[in-house]
Amino acid sequence: MCGIIGYIGRRNASQIVLEGLKHLEYRGYDSVGFAGVLNSKLVIKKDVGKVDEVHARLNFLEYNLKLAIGHTRWATHGRVTRTNAHPHTDCNKRIAIVHNGIIDNYEELKKELISKGHKFRSGTDSEVVAHLIEENLVDGKSFEEACFNAFKRLEGAYAILAIKNDEYEIVAIKKGSPLVIGVADHGSFVASDIPAFLNYTKKVVYLYDYDMVFLKPEPVFYNIGNGVMLKVERPIQSVEWDAEKARKGDFEHFMLKEIMEQVDTVQRAVAQDKRILEKIVGEIRRAKGVFLVGCGSSYHACLTASYVFSKVAKEHVNVILASEFPNYEHFLTEKTLIIAVSQSGETYDVLEAIRAGKKRGSKIISIVNVMGSSLVRESDASLLMHAGPEICVLSTKTYTSQIALLNLLAYTLSDKYEEGKRRLKYLWNVIYYLTSANTRNKIRKLAEKLLDKQHIFCIGRGLQYPTAMEAALKIKEASYIHAEAFAGGELKHGTIALIEEGTPCIVFVSEENAKEILSNAIEVKSRGGYVIGISPVNSEVFDFWIKVPECGTENPIVQIIPIQILAYQLAVLRGYDPDKPRNLAKSVTVK
Ligand code: F6R
Repeated sequence: MCGIIGYIGRRNASQIVLEGLKHLEYRGYDSVGFAGVLNSKLVIKKDVGKVDEVHARLNFLEYNLKLAIGHTRWATHGRVTRTNAHPHTDCNKRIAIVHNGIIDNYEELKKELISKGHKFRSGTDSEVVAHLIEENLVDGKSFEEACFNAFKRLEGAYAILAIKNDEYEIVAIKKGSPLVIGVADHGSFVASDIPAFLNYTKKVVYLYDYDMVFLKPEPVFYNIGNGVMLKVERPIQSVEWDAEKARKGDFEHFMLKEIMEQVDTVQRAVAQDKRILEKIVGEIRRAKGVFLVGCGSSYHACLTASYVFSKVAKEHVNVILASEFPNYEHFLTEKTLIIAVSQSGETYDVLEAIRAGKKRGSKIISIVNVMGSSLVRESDASLLMHAGPEICVLSTKTYTSQIALLNLLAYTLSDKYEEGKRRLKYLWNVIYYLTSANTRNKIRKLAEKLLDKQHIFCIGRGLQYPTAMEAALKIKEASYIHAEAFAGGELKHGTIALIEEGTPCIVFVSEENAKEILSNAIEVKSRGGYVIGISPVNSEVFDFWIKVPECGTENPIVQIIPIQILAYQLAVLRGYDPDKPRNLAKSVTVK
């Protein structure tokens, strides 16, 4: 939800911030803006649209600046307009700020500032920050002191960058929203996410909540959590991510690139230190009550895992949507184990769920892709997916990495680590075949048939039910075609009423439940439905068959891949950008 970036140093800050904004666009793309300092004056450029569109209109590269900040927006408070685009300024246009998050007490602050004569221009919560800093620039207080006094009054979640017309400095603060510092010999970066500056440095400093950083240009770290400015040390760490991985290369879209990467990413996910896996398994065995929590696709991975844990390890786990977790909090004790699953490690609802657990003494294990994320830092132990940056807003490779890791945990829990590993290694061949040009061409033919459909249904039983849910989500997000998933046995309890001549229904079949799910497929077919089989063997009930070899407990990893490709092709054929679907953002850092 919104991406922010700042650079201060000897290189051209305009260029660096523009590049950074392009890398951060997956976090929001309603509008974009940029602010820098030139001859003791603020230069501000902002407008509605994507980075390239706005840059083409306003030319972010007009000036060679040594200090700049930028913002790409996913609107929360205030409509998508130029005025509401960041940066926001104070009354006298001496201070510019960019903000990611939500200021919960902005109404109260705004009222107070208006009564003191401040003039607001936008309908955003963020603008109060600029005026609050201005209000605190009194009695000879420095810009840093004014920022500190302003930040102390904020409630909610925020990552903020502030600059002033006559200061060679960026002031940054983080609470609840992600923010990371990049360190290079020519200057410093500060951004919502590492890919924003990965072209320039792999040296990063992860921040804690209430960390306030003065970049001038070397970063100086304080923590203001106790209401005073406490100087702190924060270690510089190296990231293993490769800048190349954050580029599209020859691919037209990140989504396709990331789908293709699954040949490797599933293997990387399971290349884990066995001792850490065993330690986590020990926690699962000791726990009285295991909760798996996640949102969206990560929730579907948790649901999938609940079947595998039950089947392979005979272990019952509770799967709860992170946003619904407050309803279950009274079950938490110091014997509870929460396994939080998240690509970004910054999803607000997931962080709230684990924080509720921590308050009650529960143990927290997380499965995360982004190292150094809040979730990793707040967990007792973490397993990293090692999938590399996932830039497309839709999760593809990290979804299969999550399932691969959870499967390996389930096998380790039943003392079958080697078998689990072998099964997952075998997938390399299957994924290679599923992402080959042949399979993609075949799926393209299916996409051409489904192009103008209004509804698509997906059904599966057992392990295939969460796969059907993930399939429906992918189709909706990428192509905006309405898609809905059902457990095979549920269709006839109501929704079968919607099946008419030509209604597509994707049927996920495994050896284990072939008989039952094919009989559901026949029910659809006899009402005129167009049946698409994702199955190891063909059947006369299928109007279209995509062969996916039988992989048992690993079926959820391989069976989703053709649908990821289908969703991608539907988006492209319908003229949409699958990397940036409307209204969505990669990392949901708000409630
Ligand atoms: C769907 C998708 C989202 C995320 C969800 C959770 O393609 O990407 O549903 O899975 O927002 O995000 P993380 O995994 O970062 O917590």
